Amino acid sequence: MSSAIPKKVTEYRVAKELFSRGQDILLDPRSQQMKNCYMHGTTTVFEHCVSVAKYSLLMAYYLERKFKIKVDRDSLIRGALLHDYFLYDWHDKTIPGHNIHGFTHPGTACRNADRDFGLNKVEKDIISKHMFPLTIVPPRYRESVLVTIADKWCALCETFKVDVSSYIIFRVNRSIEFANARSQQEAIPAEQTA
Ligand SMILES: [Fe+2]
Ligand SMILES: [Fe+2]
Repeated sequence: MSSAIPKKVTEYRVAKELFSRGQDILLDPRSQQMKNCYMHGTTTVFEHCVSVAKYSLLMAYYLERKFKIKVDRDSLIRGALLHDYFLYDWHDKTIPGHNIHGFTHPGTACRNADRDFGLNKVEKDIISKHMFPLTIVPPRYRESVLVTIADKWCALCETFKVDVSSYIIFRVNRSIEFANARSQQEAIPAEQTA
């Protein structure tokens, strides 16, 4: 897709770019498992990741427009969408090591995401360093820094129940539903001619 920054940044435009760059992840049933795990309060991990991707992208627009600093928006969005792909309920006290989840889940998420989607070095850095400064190794790339900041902001909003992302989550879910319905329709004639 075009790397041009929209003149007027709207939630609709952000949702469109987010879906376009992250659709291989968003349309994969494995990423939908994040809808069954909760992050802070009633926010699912999936909703949290979409929200983090949105704020990461907004900061990327600002950096590119204001300071002409180039951001790899494909890696940024993919890394943000998968940064908490740890796939377990961290509130479950019976899970071994749940009390050190804050330290261990970036590594777990990175391994899971690389296994299921294949990651480049920027995406690996984004996921494995997103808990900095809790985990002591700092982010290496600007994309990782953006996701680290967006993650803190979204966690704060979710903890205090401030709704900052329901529209973009709605749009992304709609795009997933439309894409799935379209692929099912396309599959019907193929089955009929088989
Ligand atoms: Fe996390
Ligand atoms: Fe997170």
